Amino acid sequence: MRIFVTGGAGYVGSHTALALLLAGHDIHVLDNYSNSSPEALRRIARLAGGRAFGQTEGDIRDEDLLARAISDVPTRVRRLDYPAFVELTLRYAKVNSWL
Ligand SMILES: NC(=O)c1ccc[n+]([C@@H]2O[C@H](COP(=O)([O-])OP(=O)(O)OC[C@H]3O[C@@H](n4cnc5c(N)ncnc54)[C@H](O)[C@@H]3O)[C@@H](O)[C@H]2O)c1
Repeated sequence: MRIFVTGGAGYVGSHTALALLLAGHDIHVLDNYSNSSPEALRRIARLAGGRAFGQTEGDIRDEDLLARAISDVPTRVRRLDYPAFVELTLRYAKVNSWL
């Protein structure tokens, strides 16, 4: 399956991305690195035995960028989880409610 992982360089997203790769899925990760680093994606690739996967840097609220990023991803999985941390609550609520 080909799966689109938003926030894929973050804590939950990076573990999800690695698990999906190890399970044999193709993934494409979107992240703006506002609370993470591209280094996370390099580590995911290494831990997955050097497997390549699609990566897009940008904000999920950028509709043009989103359309380009998902254009080759027929199966779309959206993470619609809610903020658990007080300092991130307002910021992430804004992002999640946009979807
Ligand atoms: N970590 C937990 O135990 C836990 C538990 C329950 C719920 N959650 C929720 O799950 C979500 C992810 O949590 P996390 O711990 O992985 O957080 P995180 O900050 O580690 O990961 C979020 C990722 O999303 C990226 N991001 C943020 N805004 C973005 C935007 N506008 N466009 C593109 N990328 C963006 C960040 O750069 C980061 O890589 C949050 O909503 C959090 O509240 C987390």
